[in-house]
Amino acid sequence: MTARLLDGKALAADLRAEAAADAAAFLAEAGRAPGLGVILAGDDPASRSYVTAKEKACAEAGIVSREILLPGDAARAQLLDAVAALNAEDAIDGILVQLPLPDPSMEDEVIAAMDPDKDVDGFHPVNAGRLVLGLPAFVPCTPAGIVEMLRRAGVELQGAEVVVVGRSRIVGRPLSILLSQKGADATVTVCHTRTRGLAEHTRRADILVAAAGRPGTITADMVKPGAVVIDVGVNRIPDATRPRGYRLAGDVDFGGAREVASAITPVPGGVGPLTIAMLLKNTVAAARRRRAARP
Ligand code: GUN
Repeated sequence: MTARLLDGKALAADLRAEAAADAAAFLAEAGRAPGLGVILAGDDPASRSYVTAKEKACAEAGIVSREILLPGDAARAQLLDAVAALNAEDAIDGILVQLPLPDPSMEDEVIAAMDPDKDVDGFHPVNAGRLVLGLPAFVPCTPAGIVEMLRRAGVELQGAEVVVVGRSRIVGRPLSILLSQKGADATVTVCHTRTRGLAEHTRRADILVAAAGRPGTITADMVKPGAVVIDVGVNRIPDATRPRGYRLAGDVDFGGAREVASAITPVPGGVGPLTIAMLLKNTVAAARRRRAARP
């Protein structure tokens, strides 16, 4: 059996069109477009290209984006000042601090400084806590996109055995919470670098999510026949034959796994495009919430 491809690009186009329609409706009601403030520190090429892609997507959806570019050696106070300026600005509904920061030890403090009502990445402790408690929250964009993809592809979640490989704050952990909460009702196992017998876990999965950030983490023999495989990995593999000098590979051995799975996401073109689409949706939602909360 060759697996059905789960086309993230096509789904992202639908989601982006929905966000654009919502942004246009907001503009008509509020007299201004939703606004996203983006903080980028340093010149890491991957972060630069993600931020450029996010800003382009905002423009296409009718969301105004404002970039604050800081040097790679920006002091803590500079980062906190940038967050404070975006918190204070009425026309900014969402704030995105591109991670990783050049000094990752500053990330917790910078994220905590954000207004939780503008935290469209869902990284602030208030939103993480609300998610765990099952309260309305901004949900990190990649996990939110994965749930949207599973639902729209008609994948049964209730009672499904889900194995998530990776426990990052951005993907693995929030996804495990989303899928185990009421309404999704999956049974979720989180595996990580210290998990013993990884393949024994992954072979039980009806839905296998690879979010380890390491190519080759999941090989065909680790996939249960008929499983749905979601590959979150975006690994740059040096490749002199490519114009950019690298190619993208996921965490899954795609060629092998697609012969065992019933459905699988490609890399690129699977989960990646959903992250930006959900960011647009979260930004319009933030604009709406802030307007509704106005006295
Ligand atoms: N770095 C990798 N993924 C993300 C993301 O979803 N949001 C932000 N802000 N930084 C990231």
